[in-house]
Amino acid sequence: MFIANWKMNGSQSMLSDWLEGVGKTLDKSLQKQCLLCPPVCFLSEASQLISKYKLNISLGAQNIDPSSFSPITGGIDGAMLRSIGSEFVIIGHSERRDIFKERDSLLLEKLKSASEDGLKVIFCIGESLKEKEENQTAKVLKQQLQIVKNAELNEFMIAYEPVWAIGSGTAANIDYINKVHREISDEVSSYQKEGFLGVSYGGSVDSSSSKDILLIKGVQGLLIGGASLQYQEFCNIVLSNN
Ligand code: PGA
Repeated sequence: MFIANWKMNGSQSMLSDWLEGVGKTLDKSLQKQCLLCPPVCFLSEASQLISKYKLNISLGAQNIDPSSFSPITGGIDGAMLRSIGSEFVIIGHSERRDIFKERDSLLLEKLKSASEDGLKVIFCIGESLKEKEENQTAKVLKQQLQIVKNAELNEFMIAYEPVWAIGSGTAANIDYINKVHREISDEVSSYQKEGFLGVSYGGSVDSSSSKDILLIKGVQGLLIGGASLQYQEFCNIVLSNN
């Protein structure tokens, strides 16, 4: 799966150009592997454009608020996201863990809520630079995965994103990704959850690094931030998978 995480970027015209461009560049079977996660305000229009251009691309939201918190000012729950075309939701991104101080108890509520509302989940985990330097990566990731172990989930993918690689311009090296992905896969497989879709990598992926990363056996997808904003670059990443 190729996940375009636009973060807080985009506009209506960019959305329409992007979808039209991806539609013209990728055939239907490649489109099927693509998941666009634009800011929530563009989801509805994205859904309409996908129908209009007869595309095979899925949509996801970048965040969800637990419905158990209702009513909450500014909140958007899973049923609302589904109603505007979202099939997936990203939960646990390091930017939200860091800036909005999202802790495990809240993330667990989000996971529960997503599953109750029938959304598939992209659950992000990753170690900080300090944790990596202190050789704490395996321990930290295992800890972050505990709420996945304890939650009832529909289909879900784990997105491994080393925090120090995100937005840095340099992806983690191949041996490192290979090793960490194997550890994550082993850990999550031991939970024996039926909906486990595998582990994707994120953190400064672009079309110059994607091919080698995709060749790693344990990599089932890419979560792409900055390089997903230009449709040509995003398509080059998808096309590098052969
Ligand atoms: P990046 O972002 O590709 O710009 O590093 C990835 C992410 O944070 O999802």
